[in-house]
Order: sequence, then structure tokens, then C-alpha cells
Amino acid sequence: MTPIALDFSNMVVQNLDQGGIDPDRLERDLAERFSAAHDTVEASRISGAAGFFDLPYASEELDRTQQIADGLKGRFDDLVILGIGGSAMGTRTLRDALLGPTWNARSLAERKGRPRIHVLDNVDPDAVTDLVERLDPSRTLFNVVSKSGATAETMALFLVMEGLLIDEFGKEQAREHFVFTTDPKRGPLRSIAEAEGIRSLPIPENVGGRFSVLSAVGLFPAILAGLDGAALLAGAAEADEYCRTAVLMDNPAGLIATLLHTAHVDAGASIHVMMPYSERLRSFAFWFQQLWAESLGKANDRSGNIVHAGPTPLPAVGVTDQHAQVQLFIEGPRDKVVMFLGLNSSQRDIEIGTHRASLPAAAYLGGQKMGHLLDSERKATAEALRRKGRPNMTFELEQLDAATLGELFMLMSIATVYAGALYDVNPLDQPGVELGKHLTYRLMGREGYDPPDW
Ligand code: PA5
Repeated sequence: MTPIALDFSNMVVQNLDQGGIDPDRLERDLAERFSAAHDTVEASRISGAAGFFDLPYASEELDRTQQIADGLKGRFDDLVILGIGGSAMGTRTLRDALLGPTWNARSLAERKGRPRIHVLDNVDPDAVTDLVERLDPSRTLFNVVSKSGATAETMALFLVMEGLLIDEFGKEQAREHFVFTTDPKRGPLRSIAEAEGIRSLPIPENVGGRFSVLSAVGLFPAILAGLDGAALLAGAAEADEYCRTAVLMDNPAGLIATLLHTAHVDAGASIHVMMPYSERLRSFAFWFQQLWAESLGKANDRSGNIVHAGPTPLPAVGVTDQHAQVQLFIEGPRDKVVMFLGLNSSQRDIEIGTHRASLPAAAYLGGQKMGHLLDSERKATAEALRRKGRPNMTFELEQLDAATLGELFMLMSIATVYAGALYDVNPLDQPGVELGKHLTYRLMGREGYDPPDW
């Protein structure tokens, strides 16, 4: 397996007319700053606070997940994930990247008997009804995913589906259509699972939602859909190994965090664009957005001072956004770093037709591979940005398989906790989200929460 290659030449001062980083600093002050951040992160790994570091090695959990998925094989045509935020976005990314964005439109035979995967992460009644109307309840499995087991949106979706199933099949039968993925000890979903014998999988106590894709949260749907859970974890383990060093120049996650943080604090590049050149990786850009935003956008630093820190992550997709957002990236405010994700080999390439040889606007394309066009457009956009002094970097993926995606998830998760240390915030909590949740409980009349005062 070839590790993901990082090209940051378009971030350095020699290649940008302004705002570039002096590469010597990567071996001087930025290396020292990173070394301190590395110590902070290593301490959180050792204390167990950052439990996601252990996920690639959790072979017992993988076996248990595999066992439950194997037991359900062939019984369901549709798998519906009921969850939100970190409990949903990883699964959508896994589905789109490894099965393809059109997986749900494929026939049962094309899917080799594996279920369609739907991710319900909104309480929009139209969207819920649209999906429910297309499901055969007798052939549908609902995976309720919530670390806390109490999030209002997930609880509401669970209650809707439970109501439908109980009405149709009665309570005994209904429970066969659920798998809960939740905290191993605490929370309402855990209590229900234990009291009623509903199948359940654990999210380790020290793993938060947005860092949980490599736990049963992502593994269960992935394995049920026939993906290789062991390969996902092996790729993640590889990233963990090559990101262990405190030497900045040898640590890709450290470089990503350092380059983005430095571009922000030294040159005002507070918007961090994730731009894959691949439809399969569109959802990955949104997964990254949630991870970066919720981990780094914080009111307080780690000493409790008010800082209101955090970069703004922005998803974009090549080539589509070349005709939407790239104009802004090239000529708008100098407040962005663009991260390109390039795939060196397309799953299935297409040769462009040759029937318009006499039309100059078409002839040059004829006979070339579409993948080559995609790749050329990515390289051209990176170079156009560079020529206009706009910092950008490129991640090159040799292929898009379970191992590479596992590696990418882990690489960006580690970069996020390094960035947390560099911004001096706690990347593992989300107090702002909690406030919104509590105010929702109040508006919806949950016991123990005072009526709203506005
Ligand atoms: O990353 C996070 O911690 C959040 O986005 C949560 O995943 C989200 O708020 C849902 O919470 P829960 O999994 O407890 O339902």
C-alpha cells in the first residue's frame, strides 16, 4: 500500500508571491511549536482521552461487529442509519467512497444481495416520509447510532420508525429490525437495548461522535454492505504509525495541521477548503468539514480564556466547483487555503469520443481518457491558484479502497487533534452544540429543562 502523498510546495514562500511559509521554519520555530503540540496529543493518547487512537487495533470489537453483521446477512434489502453529526457522516462517506454514490440505485443482483444504505440525519418530515414510502418494513434494518443515546433528532427518528414497525408487526417482531450503536454503559439507548434485548454495538466511552467512524459506527454498516472492515482498520493503523513521530517534516498529519494553522494565524487564511476531485469523495469533504469545525471552533482556550478560535472549513468538489467557487478562491479575499484530493487511478476510466476531429473545440479531447482530463483540471487549478499567490496543497491517493480510506480518516483525525493543540483549544468537546441540544429539549418540553425564556 502506498501511503497518501502530501505535496505542499504551493504553500511555501518560493512559490507564492505573498503569504507563503518560509520552509526553513518547518525545521525551526514551527518544528518546535509542533513538537509541543505533539507532546500534548501524545499525553491525550496515553491518558485515554483521545480514544480514537486505539480504534485501528480494536480487533475484538471488529470481530463482534463482523459477527452481528454476518448474522444479519441477506435478511434486509435496506439499512437505514438514524443518527446525526459524527454518528452519520462517516457512514455516508464510506458508502459513497467505497460503494459509489449510485449504490442505492443498483439492483439487488448488482449489490450482490447487500442492502442499500440510507442515512437519515435530519428531522425534515418530507425527507423522512419520502424514504419511508419507498421502504419495505419487513426487509428494513434500522441502525440507531448515538453516542449519548439521547440526541433529540435521533430519538425522534427512532420513535417514528419504532411506531411504524410496532403497528405493522407488534413489539416482539419490531425489535428484530433494530441495531443500536451507542455508549457501552450509559444513556437511554443503552438502557433500552439491555432491558429489551435489542442487538447493540458499543462506541467506546472515550471516542466522541466525529472521531468514531472507525468504531462500530462505521464498521457495522460497512461490513453489512460487504466492505472489508479489517482493511479499513489496517489503513488507519498505517497512518497512525507514520504520524507518531515528533519530527514535523516526517509527520504528514503534523504538517497538515501546522501549515493550515500557520497560514491562518500568520497570513489570515482562516478558511480551509477541502476539494476532492472525485464524486466518490464528495461526502468526505463534508465529513472533514464537521470534524474540523466542531473540533476547532471554540470559545475558550485550554486555560479557560475567551478566544473564539477556529478556522472555517469549506467543502468544494472538483471539477464542479471550478465553475462555482474557484473564481472566489482565485480573486476574492486572501483568506483561504485549498486542499486538493487527487486520485491517481480512477475505478473505471472512459475514453473520450473521436467523432468530432474537424471541430477544434472538441478534437483535442478525442481519444484521451476522462480521468486524465479530471487530473489535468486539478493540476491546472492548483497552478492557477499558485500564480495568483493563493496557498494550496495536494493529497495524492494511489487508489480509493478500504485501506486508503481508513488511512485518510485517521490522517485527518490526527491532524485535527494536532490542530487543536496548535490553536490551544480542546478538540474533543463541543459545548456549543450541547447548548443548542438543551435549548431544543426546553422548547420541546422535556422534563427537567425549564420552559424557554424567549
Ligand atoms: O461529533 C460529535 O460529537 C457530534 O457531532 C455528535 O456526533 C452529534 O451531536 C450526535 O450526538 P450523539 O452521537 O450523542 O447522538
